[in-house]
Amino acid sequence: MQSIGIDTVTFALVGAAEVMGVDSSSRAVEAARSIATQLDLSVQFVQADVTDLPDAVPTEGFDIVFTSHGTIMWLPELEEWARMIASRLVRGGVFHIIDVHPFLTVFDDTVEEPELRVRYPYFSREPLYFEEHGSYADRTADFVADSYVWQHPLSEIIGALLNSGLKIRQFSEYPVVAWKALEFLEQDGDGLWRMPPGSGDIPLSFSLTAVRP
Ligand SMILES: C[S@@+](CC[C@H](N)C(=O)[O-])C[C@H]1O[C@@H](n2cnc3c(N)ncnc32)[C@H](O)[C@@H]1O
Repeated sequence: MQSIGIDTVTFALVGAAEVMGVDSSSRAVEAARSIATQLDLSVQFVQADVTDLPDAVPTEGFDIVFTSHGTIMWLPELEEWARMIASRLVRGGVFHIIDVHPFLTVFDDTVEEPELRVRYPYFSREPLYFEEHGSYADRTADFVADSYVWQHPLSEIIGALLNSGLKIRQFSEYPVVAWKALEFLEQDGDGLWRMPPGSGDIPLSFSLTAVRP
């Protein structure tokens, strides 16, 4: 599930006529372009920060904006992000997000035994620092990086989208998540990660759909 451009490529594979993917990392864009080329798909990838898009990404040009699995944690705040989404959608256009549930990310991700221990704040706007070994795309990669991520409470996510003028149409919570966010999560037959039986019943990811009126 940890992918580079796979969301974008998948939209093209299932028949979207025009598809554009945005990523701030030149290496990610390079890898995504290579995947699209190998699949002989016509997909445009733009290297940019999602909160500061260049003119190459047209305003009011998109029927769908989609983001999934490990995206908003890299952003310090969500108001500009939500404004970007609302400004890029056509009227009646739809925004979808599926991502890790912010409730999950308060728990200690180093504990081996199946026990939920609160370690990180839920409401704090300060970044969390991690010394990251390898990357999300390849945990065995031979490098160490400084990594900063931000917690975004559900109220911040929903509030930013409402403030941008979007109307929320759907919100769901799931007992699975796309990566091994806690050491003791168990992988199921679909490749998703779940709490071991009897060790707690908490939301691990969420999805939300919003529409530009
Ligand atoms: C976990 S991946 C998401 C993968 C995505 N679901 C896919 O199918 O490609 C997170 C990506 O967000 C990118 N990223 C982080 N901060 C960003 C920002 N401010 N603007 C644009 N991309 C950003 C990273 O470079 C990374 O490639």
